[in-house]
Amino acid sequence: MAGATPEVTRTDDVAAIRELAVACGLEDSEDDAEEVVAAWGARAGTGLVGAIVLERDDGLDVVNWLAVDAEFRGRGLAGRLYAELEREARRRGVRRLWVTARAPEFFARQGFVPLATGPESPQLLRACAACRQYGRTCRPQALHKDSGESGASPGGSS
Ligand SMILES: CC(C)(COP(=O)(O)OP(=O)(O)OC[C@H]1O[C@@H](n2cnc3c(N)ncnc32)[C@H](O)[C@@H]1OP(=O)(O)O)[C@@H](O)C(=O)NCCC(=O)NCCS
Repeated sequence: MAGATPEVTRTDDVAAIRELAVACGLEDSEDDAEEVVAAWGARAGTGLVGAIVLERDDGLDVVNWLAVDAEFRGRGLAGRLYAELEREARRRGVRRLWVTARAPEFFARQGFVPLATGPESPQLLRACAACRQYGRTCRPQALHKDSGESGASPGGSS
């Protein structure tokens, strides 16, 4: 399965995405204030091996649940997933994307910049304080990207 090139498509199966994300080490929060705007999955054979979700959280357009199965990492799949999300966000007229990132370096590669301080920071990190991974296995960073910022080319073209 790891040899196949996964296909990235839109999906409504957010439960499967959350399951993959948790298997990849992300914490499933009890906080369900976010509204799912659009979601994408990467499939190899019948299995979900990558995912990303665009959410609307109290007025902010947020990237969530980015995860790639360990066997498929390091070949641009997260970049392809993010490229799909960014395209859709631009199509919807989103001016600024936000993320609470466990892997801030990945998002920096996509042109995101860290949020020093600001009213959005507590909102973006609100679920983190209660998380058992916070400060131990996860040191999250809040970042944002404006539609005018280019950044490193988001991987892939699918
Ligand atoms: C983070 C994750 C999604 C990256 O998936 P991936 O498919 O391996 O990423 P890509 O191959 O598309 O990487 C794109 C670029 O980001 C860099 N990158 C990816 N993950 C990185 C990380 N954790 N730290 C630093 N750089 C990273 C890659 O080196 C690559 O750079 P390059 O373009 O110079 O080669 C994956 O490692 C994962 O699922 N991790 C566990 C869950 C997680 O932390 N999710 C992120 C939540 S914010």
